Amino acid sequence: MQEFIYFLGRFHVLALHVPFGVLFAAILFDCVSRYFNTDDSKVSFYRATTLLWGFGFISALAAIILGYFHSMEPGFGGQSVSLHMWSAIALACVVFVIFLRRLFSKPLSILKSEIAGFNFAVLVMLVLTGHYGGNITHGETYLTDYAPAPLKSVLGIKDIDQVTAELSIDQLETFNHVVQPMLQSKCASCHNNDKRKGQLSLASYEQIVKGGKNGSGVTANDLSKSEIYQRIILPPEHKLYMPKSGKKPFTEDEIKVFAWWVKQGAPQTEKVIDMNPTDDVLNLIKQITGVDSEQAPQLPTMSFDENKIAENGFYYRQVAQGNPLLKLSFSTFKHAFGPEQIALLSSIAPYVYSLELRKAEINDDILQQLPVMENLQVLNLAENPIQGTGLYHLQKFKSLKVLNLFATQITKDSSEVLANMKALKKVYIWQTPMYEAVGEYAVYAN
Ligand code: HEC
Repeated sequence: MQEFIYFLGRFHVLALHVPFGVLFAAILFDCVSRYFNTDDSKVSFYRATTLLWGFGFISALAAIILGYFHSMEPGFGGQSVSLHMWSAIALACVVFVIFLRRLFSKPLSILKSEIAGFNFAVLVMLVLTGHYGGNITHGETYLTDYAPAPLKSVLGIKDIDQVTAELSIDQLETFNHVVQPMLQSKCASCHNNDKRKGQLSLASYEQIVKGGKNGSGVTANDLSKSEIYQRIILPPEHKLYMPKSGKKPFTEDEIKVFAWWVKQGAPQTEKVIDMNPTDDVLNLIKQITGVDSEQAPQLPTMSFDENKIAENGFYYRQVAQGNPLLKLSFSTFKHAFGPEQIALLSSIAPYVYSLELRKAEINDDILQQLPVMENLQVLNLAENPIQGTGLYHLQKFKSLKVLNLFATQITKDSSEVLANMKALKKVYIWQTPMYEAVGEYAVYAN
């Protein structure tokens, strides 16, 4: 019986096209009908369109029932599924109301504005339902994966590594900022939407939960039914061990954190601190992500000349209340990065905790001119023309933990310099020649 329900459920992906087509046709016919000349032809057209609305409702209902069967297959769940289901149900209700309204009122008596309003609502709901449905099958970033970078920034889509570098420990989400980046860096080369070894893609939360050929990648609270976990804890010589082909494996710490996430219910958006982490787990997470809780160093509180900072093109925030350290980001909107900016940084050097200099035309020479910032922990140099010859000047930042070199020109030759920076935990190298060479999205120092 259960198998038969799954069997029917699979037809959802076929059946859903019927209400889409029919409802689009109904809307189109409503738009066109105003251009008929005679009342007779208007009325017959109107009746035919009412029939379309009725059929649209019935086919939507059928698709919903099949969709419900489909969702009973193991591995479905999560936000996209419920959003998809509820938007489809709302859509069917509105279509039903439209149908009844037309059935029980005199032809052509309904106001044009009412028709237009309802039709617009149906159109929006069709798009939403389709979009949420697409998210389930393709993963949430399917549409925007290949979007040009400027469009991504307009849409507010950030690459995960840039996001994590800017967060503090109490903002970290366990799945999005800890678990998913681990899977991405260690496993995604064989398990993505284009290449699904074992029919497993790890591109989205839904797909990770759903798993591959053998079902359930992750089962909340149950490690024994979480295929991903089972595979990474096998002895490396086992033939089912992951990652395959001698690729860089999960570390002990990463396995512990992964197991903890599963045991806590494998939530999608929950923050680390809201999941009652033990101190042990919290420390592991800090180490893995390079994100640290900010301990206020012993610095005299200094009153900053806010205007001067802003005038030089910087935006700043305090790390936390009562903590004199600052998070600074530079915008090239009004200024290019030059001697004045360097002078400003020198005047507040001990107070700089994080510094973002993205897309600021920073080159290797400028790295040499940056003042010593002894408390600098996070430095974002993404999208700058840095070749790597100036990287050894960064050794003057003794506390630097996270370095973002996304989309710079650094090559594999810089590995040694980076390895010599003792505090450094994580270097983001995606979209660089170094990335091309080592195939890792972020490298972990130490
Ligand atoms: C070099 C390629 C490669 C890498 C890297 C890799 N896998 Fe796989 N994976 C495969 C192949 C091939 C299969 C199918 C054969 C099999 O089931 O062993 C597979 C199958 C799986 C399956 C079983 C899917 C199913 O339901 O049958 C899981 C789970 C899995 N991999 C998890 C991972 C995890 C987690 C990582 C990262 C630690 C990883 N893989 C990295 C190649 C790879």
